[in-house]
Amino acid sequence: MKVTKAVIPAAGLGTRVLPATKSMPKEMLTIVDKPAIQYIVEEAVNSGITDILIITNRGKGIIEDHFDRSPELEERLLATGKKDAYDEIVSFSRLANIFFIRQKETKGLGHAVNCARNFVGNEPFAVLYGDDVIIGDDPACAQLIRAYEQFGKSVVGIKSVPAADIHKYSSLKAEPLQDNLFSVTDMVEKPKTPEAVLSLYSILGRCVLTPDIFDILDETLPGAGGEIQLTDAMRTLARSTGMTGVDFTGKRYDMGDKLGILQATVEIALKHPQLGEPFAAYLKEIVAGLA
Ligand code: UTP
Repeated sequence: MKVTKAVIPAAGLGTRVLPATKSMPKEMLTIVDKPAIQYIVEEAVNSGITDILIITNRGKGIIEDHFDRSPELEERLLATGKKDAYDEIVSFSRLANIFFIRQKETKGLGHAVNCARNFVGNEPFAVLYGDDVIIGDDPACAQLIRAYEQFGKSVVGIKSVPAADIHKYSSLKAEPLQDNLFSVTDMVEKPKTPEAVLSLYSILGRCVLTPDIFDILDETLPGAGGEIQLTDAMRTLARSTGMTGVDFTGKRYDMGDKLGILQATVEIALKHPQLGEPFAAYLKEIVAGLA
């Protein structure tokens, strides 16, 4: 079955990015000239996704506003000859069918994904974590969808992380299949001891799940950090049917982390069609001053 639906969980509290995220959702933090979540929606659309459910919570209404039309602003842009800006804001409000639901209590990523059950129905679906921006020529979500089509199993986007950081991530039992594809048969969220580490491969930001995940999530008890962890539910899938891991191409930026936000800003600004050149010149000057 074709993957046309995606879920973007964006209901976290963003405690690592305070005070910026006290009233501003981290998914709305700007990278150059777009909020982070717009890059993620664009990746989904460029991967063939037509219907997107964004999971929000209290105080995140501006995410809905961002993907809505804005008649007064549009009129003003047209009246003042700002046609390019008009085209841009109108076109992304038509990118896909975008739906919203609130996660009423912040009980973890697994709990957030479980809020998508009615939207998803009985189809495979993509999950794009709302604070992971991935930039690359071949959209990461599309790479995972191709792996789903090839093997028919749920898929996780994976990357190797430094040994010193693995306790902050998940750790996977992953055997190479071919090229950048792996067979994933077990996983653990935030391994507490070196013995608990299965490998340095971790799930980063994207997965494609079969709908049987919802019954598993219903049974999943709170895990690491007292939250209902998506990884704990995916472990049941990995151990029973097995999953496919895709070591995706593209650079991932962690918008849930202050350094990640700075890295995204600098690197994406350098690639920007209008700002890239003047920004590079500015940066060279700054860097020369650091030496
Ligand atoms: P994180 O664990 O990185 O988000 O979840 P967080 O809770 O905001 O992080 P802290 O407080 O800085 O540690 C990964 C993704 O899952 C979403 C987040 O919005 C983020 O996109 N999430 C997390 C939810 O939607 N609901 C939750 O209950 C938890």
